[in-house]
Amino acid sequence: MGPGPSDVAPSVLKAMAQPLLGHLDPVFVKMMEEIKAMLRAVMLTKNDMTFPISGTGSAGMEFCCVNLIEPGDEVIIGVNGVFGTRMVDVAERCGAKVTKVEAPWGRIIEPSQIADALKKVSKPKFVAIVHAETSTGALTPVEEISKLAHSAGALMVLDTVTSLGGCPVRLDDWGIDAVYSGTQKCLSCPPGLSPVSLSPRALEAATNRKSKVQSWYLDVNLLASYWGQDRVYHHTAPISMNYALHEALRLVLVEGLENRWRRHEQNHLALKRGLAAMGLALTSQEGHQLWQLNPVGVPEGVDEVTVRKALLTDHNIEVGAGLGPLKGKIWRIGLMGETSKKENVRTVLDALGEILNAAGRKTDTEAAVSAVGA
Ligand SMILES: Cc1ncc(COP(=O)(O)O)c(C=O)c1O
Repeated sequence: MGPGPSDVAPSVLKAMAQPLLGHLDPVFVKMMEEIKAMLRAVMLTKNDMTFPISGTGSAGMEFCCVNLIEPGDEVIIGVNGVFGTRMVDVAERCGAKVTKVEAPWGRIIEPSQIADALKKVSKPKFVAIVHAETSTGALTPVEEISKLAHSAGALMVLDTVTSLGGCPVRLDDWGIDAVYSGTQKCLSCPPGLSPVSLSPRALEAATNRKSKVQSWYLDVNLLASYWGQDRVYHHTAPISMNYALHEALRLVLVEGLENRWRRHEQNHLALKRGLAAMGLALTSQEGHQLWQLNPVGVPEGVDEVTVRKALLTDHNIEVGAGLGPLKGKIWRIGLMGETSKKENVRTVLDALGEILNAAGRKTDTEAAVSAVGA
């Protein structure tokens, strides 16, 4: 129940144990096409260039930056947690001049802040936002920001590592040009692949560059010949990981996107009710709270680390710690993908209540668990 990896369905683990096929085997090639089609369905896009990068979510972040940025390009990046901070570092390594738009950790990036930044940047190549900031639990709405970016002639880049599969992500409706995600959060697949998608406009920017893409491994122009119809060897695809993603995406679509989003929302609300009954509260911005990552404020006088360790060693429950300015101040409870279950919500509330009471506090654990509801 941490910030990922989330629990994985037995059929996904079983898929990983299947015998290997070659990366150019016709059966594997058919599977690649199915993965691309299922990713389009999950991302709600018609983008042809939609496929999984070999590597974790950070590889997807690098993929978007290396393909879109040429040295000297100006970009605008929203920074309201760890992952916006990381993207600034990645973009600078690609030679970008980065304008940071910052918000306190736990709050969203406001469209007015992006509008102000766009007035100061003469030729922005892209505006990038971390949709779901896993380090803080804030979900930044991107539709309006995307319109602002486009009217300034910029591309819109979105990090959906934690949002995809757990809450609405509508690439085409929102006009997202470049997106990356991860497998180990709400898609409930082991870590190792990063689904990405480029709009025709973003692809054009990547193919009409003046300079070569800095990374050979992540160059979309080369990857396109393996993931596209040519099937030219580029690198050996991680076969078993692709089996797992194929099965995980199938499960997402069998459940149905809307149903899956609703399940995440309901379990988040149940946790929130239970926490309130114990006198605990979420620290992310009201109205913009992530369903899949719940940052719980550590009460005064309670040692964050001691409680987190007791959860792990005495109750077998992993939750995340606060990072950066939130270190020692929050616990991060993940309700992602397979982990997002009512019984998990009850179990974590029960365990948390027991630990807090053993430390001398008076929390009404029974009330918390019954607030979860049926
Ligand atoms: C929002 C966000 N972006 C990027 C990443 C980086 O992904 P990975 O750790 O899979 O490389 C993470 C990982 O937690 C994340 O939560």
